[in-house]
Amino acid sequence: MSHATILAIESSCDETAVAILRGNRLEAEILSSEISSQIDIHQEYGGVVPELASRNHSLALRPLVDKALAQAGIGLESIDAFAATAGPGLASSLLIGHTAAKAMAVASKKPFLSINHMEGHLLSPFIDSKQGIQENTSLVVSGGHTMIIQTHGYGNYALLGKTLDDAAGEAFDKVAKMIGLPYPGGPHIEKQAQSGSPDAYDFPRSMLKKPHLDFSFSGLKTAVLYTLSELNPVDGRPPEEAIPDICASFQAAVIEVLVKKTIKAAKQQNSKFITLSGGVSCNGALKNAFEEACVKNGIKLKVCSPAFTTDNAAMIAYVALHKHLNGEHSPFSCDVDPNMRL
Ligand code: KG4
Ligand code: ZN
Repeated sequence: MSHATILAIESSCDETAVAILRGNRLEAEILSSEISSQIDIHQEYGGVVPELASRNHSLALRPLVDKALAQAGIGLESIDAFAATAGPGLASSLLIGHTAAKAMAVASKKPFLSINHMEGHLLSPFIDSKQGIQENTSLVVSGGHTMIIQTHGYGNYALLGKTLDDAAGEAFDKVAKMIGLPYPGGPHIEKQAQSGSPDAYDFPRSMLKKPHLDFSFSGLKTAVLYTLSELNPVDGRPPEEAIPDICASFQAAVIEVLVKKTIKAAKQQNSKFITLSGGVSCNGALKNAFEEACVKNGIKLKVCSPAFTTDNAAMIAYVALHKHLNGEHSPFSCDVDPNMRL
C-alpha cells in the first residue's frame, strides 16, 4: 500500500499549527504536531481580533515549521506534499498558512493541497484509527459550526443537520462572556458546571420536538441573558454563588439537544457508529451523556482524541494524506475561502 509524508499548516483562527504525518489509507503516524496558541493575546479583548491573529501567525509560523521538522527528525526533502487550511476561517489568517505551504511546495517542487478545516474536524476521530475511515454518523461541534453529517467514507459526506444561528461553541463563548468568564468560554463553563445543578434553571431545548435535525442556540443564549438580568438588574453580572448553577443548567440544555438529535440521526441512517469532533467535544459532560445514550441504543461511540479536538494541523494533514493518495492536488492559483462549505 502506498505511503506518503505530508506537512500541513493550520492558521484559520487563533492557533498557528504545523504537523507532519506519514501514513497510508488505513493508518497514519504523527511524526510531529506543534501548536502555538494566541489565546493569551486575544483574551483581553474577549474574542479573536483578526489583525492581531494574522500578524501573530506570520511571526509564529517559520519557527513552528522548523520545530515540527526537528521533532519529526526529517528535512523538507522528505515531505511528499504540502497542505494548508483554505477555509472556513478568517481570510487574513488563512492567507498566512495557505501562502506559506504553497511557497514550500513550489520551492520543493512537490504538490500542494488546499484543505477544508471542517473536513479536518470531521475525520479527526480516525487519525489514530488502524482501519481507516469507517461509515459513521458524525457530530462536529466547534466554535464556528454544529453539524450532523453521515460520513459514508473519505470524500463522501451527507449533511443531515446544522445550526440555524449560533454554533454550540459560540453559545458557550457568548454565555461565558455574559457571565464574566474568560475567553474561550467552553472550558470555564464546564469547570463551573461541575459544582452546579443542571436542574437549577429550566433553559429551553430549542427544536428538540421538531422533526428535522437542525439546531438553534440563540434562544437559549437569550434565555440565559434574561435570567442574568433578573438576578442582577444593574449590570447582569450574576452573584458569584449563582454561577455554577447557571453554567450547569446551560450546559445541560446544550448537551440534551446535541445527544438527542445525533442519536435520532443515527437511527434514521441505520447507523451503529457515532463520532464526535470539534472543540466542544472536549466537554466531559457531553462525552458522558453520549456514552450513556450510545450504550442504551447499542451504538458504538468514538470521540476524537483530546490532542486533535481543538484546532490542530494533524487533522489537516490527515485529510491531505487521503487527498494526496487519490491524486487530488490543488493548483497553485487556488485561493482561500473564508466561507468554505463541506
Ligand atoms: O474546534 P475549535 O478549536 O475551533 C473552531 O474551529 O471553532 O473549537 C473551539 C470551541 C470554542 O467555542 C470553545 O469554547 C469550545 O470549542 N470548547 C469547549 C470546551 N473546550 C473548547 N466547549 C465546551 N466545553 C469544553 N470543555
Ligand atoms: Zn476548528
